[in-house]
Amino acid sequence: MERAIIVERLVKNFQVTERNAGFWEALGSLLKPKKKTVEALRGVSFSVSEGEFVGLIGPNGAGKTTILKILSGILFPTHGFVQVMGYTPWERRESYLKTISMVMGQKNQLWWDLPATDTFELNRRIYGISDRTYQKNLRELVNLLGVEKYMKRQVRRLSLGQRMRLELVAALIHKPKVVFLDEPTIGLDVIAQKKLRDFIKKYNREHEATIILTSHNMDDVIELCRRVIVINEGEIVFDGDLKDLIVRYAKEKVIKFSVSSEIDTKKLVKMGRVEIAKYPYYELYVSRSVSKIAASELLSSFPVSDLTIEEEPINEIVGKVFSSNA
Ligand SMILES: Nc1ncnc2c1ncn2[C@@H]1O[C@H](COP(=O)(O)OP(=O)(O)O)[C@@H](O)[C@H]1O
Ligand SMILES: [Mg+2]
Repeated sequence: MERAIIVERLVKNFQVTERNAGFWEALGSLLKPKKKTVEALRGVSFSVSEGEFVGLIGPNGAGKTTILKILSGILFPTHGFVQVMGYTPWERRESYLKTISMVMGQKNQLWWDLPATDTFELNRRIYGISDRTYQKNLRELVNLLGVEKYMKRQVRRLSLGQRMRLELVAALIHKPKVVFLDEPTIGLDVIAQKKLRDFIKKYNREHEATIILTSHNMDDVIELCRRVIVINEGEIVFDGDLKDLIVRYAKEKVIKFSVSSEIDTKKLVKMGRVEIAKYPYYELYVSRSVSKIAASELLSSFPVSDLTIEEEPINEIVGKVFSSNA
């Protein structure tokens, strides 16, 4: 498969002036500002195939947004090589801008006081989309996202979930082949999150679009991305299948079970870590290698009515990935 995105030894430093707290210090820094370098990206390399859907995860300040901004041509890198669909993003060629789109959950492009359709129309002109293509794309996106009802209302009157879906219509009206999604589900309720995810999944499949998504919400990543890149303090600490990430870092499994009559929890404590013991439901964390033995022991010693062995919650696993780098 063709490589849609190539990133090699990408470095981004920000120069910031330090501000001091006290009056004299503030005066001092006014006269002689102290410059400090923030190393947001310290040599990041990865590539993404056409049609691939990659999750970029990491703690706050790790450098996720910086990567997406460089890929979409909003920021210049300090060093490094980047190519997206054969283009150098920061040259901002018109044909490149027509190929990509960046959606930021915390920023909006829709005009607040106008209906969303006005922004769509503006984008139609910016991207030079023919009337026919525009009508076709609009109909398709509006149907997929179920936003027919809202698109003629003033944007400020809409809920965050409705607005976010309309943001996506505006961002995708030109049918980009590469999409960068920066925290698209932030602040949305569970139902709105699901609608958005379903749509993004379809867009990826139907247009064979290459997508990089950043999210704090591991449900987004689990649902959408087979491959994840974990970044911490400007460096990649894992790049591979989400499944392998789990196997590598999850040292434990969770046995969830219910019983039909009360049991002695002392016996449980010997087998592993008891996280929940609320008759009739229990959760026991055991080391991966003994999870099957532990389960069969539970089945033989207790009146178990229901039992499943699951992976640790993904958030906890990812937390370990971050701390393993420290
Ligand atoms: N415009 C900027 N000026 C100075 N520092 C910045 C700027 N943008 C980002 N940073 C710093 O770069 C680092 C990475 O930020 P960012 O890419 O936004 O992280 P993330 O999206 O993973 O939370 C942080 O330390 C952040 O404070
Ligand atoms: Mg960010």
